Amino acid sequence: MDVVILPGSKAIASLAADAVEALLRRKPDAVLGLATGSSPVPVYDELVLRHEQRGLDFSRARAFALDEYVGLPAGHPESYREVIRRVFTGRVNIGPANVHGPDGTAADIPAACQAYEDAIRAAGGVDLQLLGIGTDGHVGFNEPGSSLASRTRITTLVEQTRRDNARFFRSVAEVPSHALTQGLGTILDARHVILLATGAQKAQAVRDLVEGPVAAICAASVLQLHPHATILLDEAAASSLRLADYYRHSYDNKPPWQGL
Ligand code: F6R
Repeated sequence: MDVVILPGSKAIASLAADAVEALLRRKPDAVLGLATGSSPVPVYDELVLRHEQRGLDFSRARAFALDEYVGLPAGHPESYREVIRRVFTGRVNIGPANVHGPDGTAADIPAACQAYEDAIRAAGGVDLQLLGIGTDGHVGFNEPGSSLASRTRITTLVEQTRRDNARFFRSVAEVPSHALTQGLGTILDARHVILLATGAQKAQAVRDLVEGPVAAICAASVLQLHPHATILLDEAAASSLRLADYYRHSYDNKPPWQGL
């Protein structure tokens, strides 16, 4: 696991966008794993800029969203399919048919979850997965207690998560209580995972993720088992890390040929 501590979200966005750009230049039909929420928005803005100014090409890329609320009707402005379109995929030249998300409106939820797993596999798996982290350590909507081997499924949101996400709705009562999410086992299958966290409110979750035991109480800690996980943090999110100086030293001395 590489922990990279940066001055702020602009530097984080630039480094994450570098990784996406390098991947697309190497593999134009790469499969991107997309998170919603606030954390990846600066990365998406940076990618849109590179698309507009430098012609970064997404025409052959495929994308899979991490998760989706259950029960929001198609086209609801806060459904993750809609959010991803608004903040990213609708602003670059990726074909709408190449952007996938779990179907939170499905009548047969287990079948929809299996279909999503099958679609990811049929696409050849996710090359680069962007992740945020919840204040309770969730990734995707894998809340505390999620099986470390879980696959795409329905989960019940923790009340804190609903309160955290109420800022996107008129009130917490409007935040759905359930979501479909890629499982922790699904996320582990991605070839490269980049997790982004900013702000002091993420510091404890980041510490549990990086320096705590691998344990379902902090779902994100499963990334300690991933062979290529990169954790991009600002100073505030890194403020509880015991080995922050070592992570800085290690990144400063990383052999350039390794890339991110
Ligand atoms: C979003 C997702 C969530 C968020 C997490 C952090 O698709 O899966 O795990 O990444 O809740 O959200 P923000 O970035 O808004 O703090």
